[in-house]
Amino acid sequence: MTHDIAVIGGDGIGPEVTAEAIKVVRAAGVDVTTTDYDLGGARYLRDGEILSDETLDQLRAHDCILLGAVGTPDVAPGVIERGLLLKMRFELDLYINQRPFVGTAPGAAEAHDFVVIRENTEGPYVGEGGSLRFGTPHEVATQGSFNTRFGVERCVRYAFELAAGRPRRHLTLVHKTNVLQFAGGLWQRTFDAVAAEFPQVTTAYNHVDAACIYFVQDPHRYDVIVTDNLFGDILTDLGGAVSGGIGLASSANLNPGRTGPSMFEPVHGSAPDIVGTGTANPTAAILSAALMLDFLDERDAADRIRAACAEPVTGSTTAVGDAIASRVGS
Ligand code: IPM
Ligand code: MN
Repeated sequence: MTHDIAVIGGDGIGPEVTAEAIKVVRAAGVDVTTTDYDLGGARYLRDGEILSDETLDQLRAHDCILLGAVGTPDVAPGVIERGLLLKMRFELDLYINQRPFVGTAPGAAEAHDFVVIRENTEGPYVGEGGSLRFGTPHEVATQGSFNTRFGVERCVRYAFELAAGRPRRHLTLVHKTNVLQFAGGLWQRTFDAVAAEFPQVTTAYNHVDAACIYFVQDPHRYDVIVTDNLFGDILTDLGGAVSGGIGLASSANLNPGRTGPSMFEPVHGSAPDIVGTGTANPTAAILSAALMLDFLDERDAADRIRAACAEPVTGSTTAVGDAIASRVGS
């Protein structure tokens, strides 16, 4: 079966790493057609498009989207991130951001293996708020966090289903219920209600600040974590840092109901400082492509890619891609 992939290389090192990811997918024997979408900072500066409704409709026609990275120092921070990346997450209803972490934390004797399920369409990311008396000493700024029962429940249920299918069957809710009583209360009550449907899954709760300590000192306690959009954003950078570095951290932005394409991207950014140097590590993009293959039901190829990435490899961006490609092909 041929899979139809939209590729958004994006900014900075994005196009360099997505090229290696597609190379490895093909080497793994998966049949894909790719369509490149020229989106990101350079495109915006050229003709003003960030992501038009027309382009979004074209993206909807593909099976999946593979994205490199977005954001460039030439454009004000956030413009491309919100207009392209967050717009896709919202418009394509990619309500799960799944980020696996397999690695050995500094000083740890054994490898950990846990997954963060980050709610991806609500929380502070909805952009609700505004400024009054902007730029004056009396400026007021508000930034709301949106949490709906519907949005929280579908995310929590996804996390329970994932945990129920893993050997340890353990799910931890991470929030800040001691301070964010309204949002935290909704999360905790929803979590408890859904937990009743999954008696085979053991549960725990950590405040997000405590979770930061456990990520560094005791990541083995985790199997699956579910958390809100902003906590998940921050925690998954830390997850990358304790799992071999952000150059290995992969993610899946999922529409589990498959009412549109899901999007797969490395956790790292566009790294404009190293663009063109050939030093970007493509492994995070390659592992993101493996998550894409999981979702496309190409599990054997996905497992072979993960196994190939588990063995250390150094070298330039293309050398790393070539080495991994030759391993999955053999
Ligand atoms: C991520 C990124 C994005 C986010 C940025 C680029 C908007 O940091 O995918 O983790 O905050 O979600
Ligand atoms: Mn982030």
